[in-house]
Amino acid sequence: MCGIIARIGRGDATETLLSGLENLEYRGYDSAGIAVQNGSGVKVHKTTGEVDDLKSTLDARPSGNIGIGHTRWSTHGPPTDENAHPHTDTAGDVAVVHNGVIDNYDALRAELRERGHEFESDTDTEVIPHLIDEYRQESEDTELAVRKAIDTLEGSYAIAAIVDGEERVYAARKGSPLVLGLDEEEWFLASDVPAFLDHTDEVIYLEDGDLVVLEPDAYRITNVAGEPVERSVDTVDWDPEDAGKGEYDHYMQKEIHCQPTALSNTIEGRVEDGTVAFDDLESGSFADVDCVQFVACGTSFHASMYGAQLLRAAAVPTEVIRASEYEAAAGPVDEATLVVAVTQSGETADTLDAVRTAAGRGARTLAMTNVVGSTAAREADDAIYIRAGPEVGVAATKTYSSQAVTLALLTHRLAEDVPDATPADDAEAMLEALEDLPRHVETVLETSQARALAWEVMDNQSYFFIGNGFGHSVALEGALKFKEITYEHAEGFASGELKHGPLALVTEESPIFAVYTGGDDEKTKTNAIEAQSRGAPIVAVGPDDHPLVDVADAHLCVPETHPVWAGLLANVQLQLVSYYAAKLLDRPIDKPRNLAKSVTVE
Ligand code: AGP
Repeated sequence: MCGIIARIGRGDATETLLSGLENLEYRGYDSAGIAVQNGSGVKVHKTTGEVDDLKSTLDARPSGNIGIGHTRWSTHGPPTDENAHPHTDTAGDVAVVHNGVIDNYDALRAELRERGHEFESDTDTEVIPHLIDEYRQESEDTELAVRKAIDTLEGSYAIAAIVDGEERVYAARKGSPLVLGLDEEEWFLASDVPAFLDHTDEVIYLEDGDLVVLEPDAYRITNVAGEPVERSVDTVDWDPEDAGKGEYDHYMQKEIHCQPTALSNTIEGRVEDGTVAFDDLESGSFADVDCVQFVACGTSFHASMYGAQLLRAAAVPTEVIRASEYEAAAGPVDEATLVVAVTQSGETADTLDAVRTAAGRGARTLAMTNVVGSTAAREADDAIYIRAGPEVGVAATKTYSSQAVTLALLTHRLAEDVPDATPADDAEAMLEALEDLPRHVETVLETSQARALAWEVMDNQSYFFIGNGFGHSVALEGALKFKEITYEHAEGFASGELKHGPLALVTEESPIFAVYTGGDDEKTKTNAIEAQSRGAPIVAVGPDDHPLVDVADAHLCVPETHPVWAGLLANVQLQLVSYYAAKLLDRPIDKPRNLAKSVTVE
């Protein structure tokens, strides 16, 4: 996983490349680089570290109207200056940036070495400029050389290349995202729209097998055989401000605080008179479904647990499966199985792999994603968007809330459509209470004591999160967020599991966040009290009117509402605790070590 950008047009490319890379850093941030072409050779600048480090190595901004850029999350070779992109051929005439993994790079590198090519990095990517160089020497037709080079590659790629003396950018995709941005005076290519959202909202989502040639006043899309391909132009409805931090210190903070708006967008136009409607999925469109499998990773998996619990309450047989375990863990599927891939980015390799496996076995597939035009959205039979707006912080926050709400709405639709389903007794009450959710999130954000609590509880050995029912999903999510950005030891458990092993770790130095929702929370109360009697401080996270509040050492309060939504409100409190704890520890909150926003390798 990495972020790539390319730009061609009038004026200088460098500033655009650097600011575009900053908006792509969520995809990787262990090294960064650019290459610009200005009629006197291809100039490459790259370094270990973040885009800011790259900027500080540029004494004078290299100038040129054509350029490519890259921000890296290492797969082949450690983060070093040599392994940073762009990579070039031996003469330095061809520069390439790449997102993806070239599976046959070892064999290609050995062959190229035998023919005299010299390599400087450990990366798989470096074979690409050398291949383009080889084929150029055969015919001097660079477009043909690029086609031949990508035809030789096995694996996944989004690549962009520039060549000394040519007023062009060459690009291609297979298995990694690539979007073309169209402005009046310049064209862009990038892994994701925020890279150029400041300049244009007119985009073309490229498909696997597409090869693009950009010139200052024209662009062409062909297939690998060189035949023209038609792709439609879409308008993205994200605001350029969505791509920046605004008044906040971190993207994560901004994304936590914009949840009331994100949730309003998620819900808008989808609920009317007690029924749920999704664009392009008419009433009855799930009438041939008899069971559901959710596949997802990380935070999206935790949100899927919400959907699974709701569907089971509506008597629809449901599994929720970690996407990376799909091969081994999924029950049998057929055309009456709906496999729902829940993925914020729509690009997570494990999730895409699970969807492809399920489709190969005959299941119907549905992508639930935040990113229009993402691979999951394009490959699944249907797509539902969670409409949370761009999420840049590596720690997922607003997308968990929007996913859980969209899943609850989907559940409602499935309970209406699936022949043997029986809507849960409180399904209507849940929909009614949904209307107040954005307002309740606002209240939590305005009144939260999470900051003070974070100061109080830090300096402990471990942090445990427990909950049952919807609270279980929130406990797992709370622990994931906490460990991800504070680097402290945190674990989440189903409340009842605490006494089956984890209790051995409980001491007076292991605060327990006990999440309850006002539903059936008995196990959370009894297990929290058992832990407390072994010395652990208890933080109750849920509505005021609950017996746990009386015994807890601290309380993070959420407004009274339906238990489904109380869980989401408790999660907002836990997001704030993690954020302030990480801030106190001076962690790089938006870019935690070793992680990246979308994990496009298995
Ligand atoms: C959560 O904070 C993480 N960033 C991570 O667990 C993430 O949810 C996971 O990698 C799945 O990503 P996706 O939703 O884009 O598929």
